[in-house]
Amino acid sequence: MATTVDVNGRSYNVSSPPDTPLLWVLRDELGLTGTKYGCGIAQCGACTVLADGNPIRSCQMPVSALGAAKITTIEGLGGATPLQQAWVKLDVPQCGYCQSGQIMSATALLAQNAKPDDAAITEAMDGNICRCGAYQRIRAAIKEAAGMPSVAVPSPALAAPAPKA
Ligand code: FES
Ligand code: FES
Repeated sequence: MATTVDVNGRSYNVSSPPDTPLLWVLRDELGLTGTKYGCGIAQCGACTVLADGNPIRSCQMPVSALGAAKITTIEGLGGATPLQQAWVKLDVPQCGYCQSGQIMSATALLAQNAKPDDAAITEAMDGNICRCGAYQRIRAAIKEAAGMPSVAVPSPALAAPAPKA
């Protein structure tokens, strides 16, 4: 039986079994591969998308449980939101694998809190793991997009070497 999902403003009839996680419908049926598989158990945040503006872990969300929720993926942001521009300006990604999930969580944060303080950023981003450790640049980019002062943190490859003792 076909399930209908609303993704990035389009309605799709999908043929995957109803208990298929949304992540695999997005990637395998709809070809929206910007959303990544990391852990598969709702622990890393790589698969984060928005459902009616709220971040969800698509690896653990059966497609049949979405109802009429409007899903937004990284592709649906269009690539040039203020947050994405800040991401580029501050050269946030390292390997990039976690980044779509990071951006989706940060997008939801800024939609709900235009000037998040450090505690709010920590709370909102806590579930998004970055194995490259780009956390400082992620935080700086969120503040940049919010028009808040922040200290730009260069990527490790560009950072000056530590002085010898
Ligand atoms: S792949 Fe979904 S939280 Fe890790
Ligand atoms: S940029 Fe590599 S895991 Fe986050």
